[in-house]
Formats: sequence, C-alpha cells, structure tokens
Amino acid sequence: MKVAISSDHGGNNLRKEITNLLTELDIEYIDYGPDADTSVDYPDYAVPVANDVVAGKVDRGILICGTGIGMSISANKVKGIRCALVHDVFSAKATRGHNDSNILAMGERVIGPGLAREIVSTWLETEFEGGRHERRINKMMELEKN
Ligand code: RB5
Repeated sequence: MKVAISSDHGGNNLRKEITNLLTELDIEYIDYGPDADTSVDYPDYAVPVANDVVAGKVDRGILICGTGIGMSISANKVKGIRCALVHDVFSAKATRGHNDSNILAMGERVIGPGLAREIVSTWLETEFEGGRHERRINKMMELEKN
C-alpha cells in the first residue's frame, strides 16, 4: 500500500498528524505539502495527489483542507477519481466497501485528530465489496465520458 497526501494551509496540522499515523502503520507515502502555513489554493494541491492515483503511482490518496469540501470537489474533477468527504468512521468503512473510493478528504476544522486517525485507519484497511456495487461504480464512471 502506497499513499499520496496533501493539504492546503487549513489542513496542515491534520496532514502532519496523518503522516505520523502512516509512519506508525508502516505505510509508504508521498507528501505533496505545503511546507509552510502560508495561504495556498487547494486545487493546486489536490491535483498532484489525484494524478498519482489515476496513474497508479500510488494506491490511494488523502486530501485535507479546512472543511475537506474544496479538496473533494477538486479531486472529483479528475477522471478516474472517486473522492469521498468523510467525517465519521461508519462512512469511512461504507465508502470503501460500496464506492471503492480512491481518495479520502477530511476537514481539519471539522473533526479532531483522534477521530481523523480512526477514519484513516478504517478507510485504509477496508476492502471494496464488489458485487452489486461494481455495477453502480461502472455506471458512475460512465458519466465521465459524457
Ligand atoms: C481555506 O480558508 C478554506 O477555504 C479551505 O481550506 C477549504 O475549507 C475549502 O473548501
């Protein structure tokens, strides 16, 4: 398992928390920053992670901003991405099992680090269930062709 991660200035602290978690879990990651707390534009940081996921350079992506919303909208503009904005453990499990989400977005201003760690751990370890969910995902991905 290899992960790409980035944030904007609103997600910097939580990104550091999550990279610490990835290290603890012995999961390899690419961290696209930003290095400083200066204001940046979230699409600029969402795209490198999304591109790495689509290219197969990494297995999954994690994006963090203040709310997670800007990051998730940006990532979902990239063809092949299924980015889920998640702030609870139930949804973290469900979006892997049912949507085969390949990017997780979270908001640092929405949840605390403890819950975010549980969400990430759950999301990383949950397998896609396939079956009827496969058909629905295929229909979703067809929408990109229109
Ligand atoms: C930055 O202030 C904030 O707008 C951003 O982090 C994010 O919440 C946008 O969706």
